[in-house]
Amino acid sequence: MQKNDFKRILVTSALPYANGPIHIGHIAGAYLPADLYCRYQRLKGRDVVFICGSDELGVAIMIRARKEGISPQELVDRYHPMIEDSFQKLGISFNYYGRTTTVTHQETSQDFFRNLAEKDVFVLKTDEQLFDPEAEIFLADRFIIGTCPVCGYEDAYGDQCEHCGSSLSPSELKNPRSTLSDATPELRETTHWYLPLGDFQDRLAAWIETHPEWKPNVRGQIKSWLNDGLRDRAITRDVPWGVPVPEDVAEKAGIDASGKVIYVWFDAPIGYISATREWAKREGDEDLWKEYWQDSETKLLHFIGKDNIVFHCLMFPAMLMAHGDYVLPENVPANEFLNIEGGKLSTSRGWAVWLHEFLENYPADLLRYALASMLPETKDADFSWSEFQARVNSELADILGNFVNRTLTFATRYFTGNVPELVNPSEEDLAVLAQIKDFRDRIGEAYESFRNREAVFETMGLARLGNKYFNDTEPWHTRNSDIQKCGNTIHVCLQLCASLSVYMDPVLPTAGSKLREMLNIKDVRSSVPDGDGAMSGSIGWEEAAEPLLKAGDTVGTPEILFKKVDDDVVAAEVAKLQQISVEDEPGVDPPYKPLADQITFDDFTRLDLRVATILTAEKMPKSKKMLRIQLDLGFEKRVVMAGAAEHYNPDDLSGKKVVVLANLAPRTMMGIESQGMILMAEDRNGRLSLVESSGEDGAVVR
Ligand code: MF3
Ligand code: ZN
Repeated sequence: MQKNDFKRILVTSALPYANGPIHIGHIAGAYLPADLYCRYQRLKGRDVVFICGSDELGVAIMIRARKEGISPQELVDRYHPMIEDSFQKLGISFNYYGRTTTVTHQETSQDFFRNLAEKDVFVLKTDEQLFDPEAEIFLADRFIIGTCPVCGYEDAYGDQCEHCGSSLSPSELKNPRSTLSDATPELRETTHWYLPLGDFQDRLAAWIETHPEWKPNVRGQIKSWLNDGLRDRAITRDVPWGVPVPEDVAEKAGIDASGKVIYVWFDAPIGYISATREWAKREGDEDLWKEYWQDSETKLLHFIGKDNIVFHCLMFPAMLMAHGDYVLPENVPANEFLNIEGGKLSTSRGWAVWLHEFLENYPADLLRYALASMLPETKDADFSWSEFQARVNSELADILGNFVNRTLTFATRYFTGNVPELVNPSEEDLAVLAQIKDFRDRIGEAYESFRNREAVFETMGLARLGNKYFNDTEPWHTRNSDIQKCGNTIHVCLQLCASLSVYMDPVLPTAGSKLREMLNIKDVRSSVPDGDGAMSGSIGWEEAAEPLLKAGDTVGTPEILFKKVDDDVVAAEVAKLQQISVEDEPGVDPPYKPLADQITFDDFTRLDLRVATILTAEKMPKSKKMLRIQLDLGFEKRVVMAGAAEHYNPDDLSGKKVVVLANLAPRTMMGIESQGMILMAEDRNGRLSLVESSGEDGAVVR
């Protein structure tokens, strides 16, 4: 059930971990979609508060800090401002961006924890966990290394062997040792607080049932968790970096709280609340946050990536239900993942496009538009530099930029920079003007239902309509034959530009306001919280479908709205990505490929493998990968195609002795018959190397 009788909207985006910079995968998941929504709603004149902040506590932060050889506080002090700065440069219009190392956050989390403890919501359980007797602390899984029981790798982590990919528990490791002190960990008893999610199963299931309108990917994941049955979740940890378990609560339970902190997935969503409190304080009304969190007329929305679904749709709602004073989310529009150039995004392998680097080289609007057009709304999507270029060049520049430019050029050149009067408009003129309202409603409806790709497509549709009308009415002819008609065309086109300057604003805020400046349009409501005329502007989303310009109004000279992206720039970006991803950090290679099913010796002898010498190798034009290679097998010569152009310079190949699968049925590739296959080893990062031999040509390999 869509709730429409709300007074205010509270929007959150997942708090990013402050353990590294932000990449465009993050942006596509939780931040840009929320920003589009908020900007649209502000233009509608709705009361919106958009909250986010840095997630600064917990083990992930500790580990990163250790890797960088600094304290967790130093780490978050480095990344928090950097993350905040790139969000700001991208134009993500938070009302407040907080952080979870603040006093407000500690108090808010402890109060919440205490409230639930007093209601007897939690369960206490004691069990044995690994303890470092030298460092005197309990060891999180990642702080224990030992020998993998599956592959024998000696530096496997307590939760996973990075060598064979097996997922492990610390007790399975042979020769376990602490990464902090190298000591052998001991089992010690420890007591923790658990949130018995099972107690909330029925209420959660019933609540989810009231929201059939949620995205199928979100409902699907929730249903599968519910089907498996919800289990108790430990919500405290023995680690030195987090919100301390309140002492009074521990005392009442008869437990020594020293060294115990609240689990990061318990405190982080409370970070939304603490950041809203800090916002309220800054606004000068300390209690204002309660209206947003505790009044049933609030529409609460959590924007997240799909890996956060269980926490936002089950765990946090259970916490909110248990507390009782809070509203539950009205929707959790989670997005799928964004791949890069066809590959899974991986920060450790450097396969990522970093936001701060992007923004050093391109205006924010370009990324906002390109990403919004390819958001992973219903399935994983792929960002490629060539698609980025195509979106910028053939849509922003050639459609939108061109329409604005030709309209303003005509207005300044032939109408002295004044809006011509609309006299005896044709049916076509009127029809085009009338369509603005349809676009307004379609774009708005799409934003309202989190269909951002569609919203952006419809926005560009308005510019497409403009270009088509411009072409059909041929003002370059009518300016000589019938200046009145020409004036009508330019009048209508200027009105389209004016409306567009508002409707493009959520996705292209900078270009939108630049366009309004060119058109001398003032008094448009701002889509950011602290912009000019934030709530007071008289022209909002609804009003912008009416003609915004009057005959005689002066308009400025056209300026280029979007600069095109050159081919060599795109090539350089792709090369940079590939370059970085080859310079892998040591020790973070992806897992080995698992072994294939067993075969018999007979299976093997069916392969006829031979030694051969490469005579020539040349790159196929129009292909990134393919080489055409001539081979000498001793008894005959052959041509084979090999996908190795990204790994070998063809000139370096001639003379090499390789192994060839000689009885493979011929296959035609790129119009050439490939008569066999050259064996190559592919490592875990996808790099290829030839299997070389010192045998004579034609020798049988087995
Ligand atoms: N830091 C988490 C992540 O990046 C998200 C936390 S969302 C919150 O996956 F709700 F817990 F804040
Ligand atoms: Zn292993």
